[in-house]
Amino acid sequence: MENPARRRRICIVGASGKLGRHMVRHALDRGYEVVGVCREKSVGKLAEFDNRITVIPGPTNNREVIARAVHECDAVLTVLVPWGMNHYASGTAQAVLDHARPGARLVFSCGWHISRDGKDVYSRRFKAYAAVFGKVAKLVRVVDVDDQVEACRRIFASDTRWTVVRGSDLEEGESQGLPVWSRHVGDPVLASNLTRRVDYARFMVEAVDDDTLVQEAPAIVGRLTPSALAHAQA
Ligand SMILES: NC(=O)c1ccc[n+]([C@@H]2O[C@H](COP(=O)([O-])OP(=O)(O)OC[C@H]3O[C@@H](n4cnc5c(N)ncnc54)[C@H](OP(=O)(O)O)[C@@H]3O)[C@@H](O)[C@H]2O)c1
Repeated sequence: MENPARRRRICIVGASGKLGRHMVRHALDRGYEVVGVCREKSVGKLAEFDNRITVIPGPTNNREVIARAVHECDAVLTVLVPWGMNHYASGTAQAVLDHARPGARLVFSCGWHISRDGKDVYSRRFKAYAAVFGKVAKLVRVVDVDDQVEACRRIFASDTRWTVVRGSDLEEGESQGLPVWSRHVGDPVLASNLTRRVDYARFMVEAVDDDTLVQEAPAIVGRLTPSALAHAQA
């Protein structure tokens, strides 16, 4: 039986990256017990959290590593990255989908380039950048955007309590508050295409308790960007 006094436990997969570390800070601030997963060589990047979080080192697409990390977690936040040519993103997503406990909140990060229903409308500039980036990345065999697409396809098809948070371009800086979101890229509120990384992380953590985001793929933008402000006044 569940112990009502137990602190809620959250797993952050990809905890050592910039987004991951912001998520760890937000989760600790909210009183979660935090389990972080990162590559062995990146454990040092989590030194600021020594003795405050449990770190499970290992590749995030390793099913045993993920099974151990998500054990008894109420929520799992996963940074989906297209790095490498060995199905890192889809392997990571699949491991989380398979091993998280039934009913756990699963929140994944990716970019605007992911489309759930094909109804996103991209600017010519965005499309040109994505096409060039995708081709160069494939040529140098460092990044596999198609595998991030495959990861999200599997998430969208699952009957778990998932949310895929689609990030705009990112910048560093002080928080501007919780980003605003819309269902489709191309919606006017998103036109500014910029979010503070700290706020992206906040959106990921707060999504855990927002049931309206279950099985949604919100595209986000900074709350104080011109397009978000124009929409707020409309
Ligand atoms: N950057 C943007 O402008 C942007 C825009 C929209 C959406 N997003 C989304 O935001 C999320 C965070 O992205 P970010 O760019 O801000 O980076 P980030 O937070 O610094 O995270 C990068 C992650 O990739 C891992 N990584 C780096 N090289 C790797 C490799 N060769 N093999 C496996 N893992 C590797 C890092 O792990 P280590 O710590 O072990 O290196 C880290 O967990 C992603 O889901 C991304 O799709 C980013």
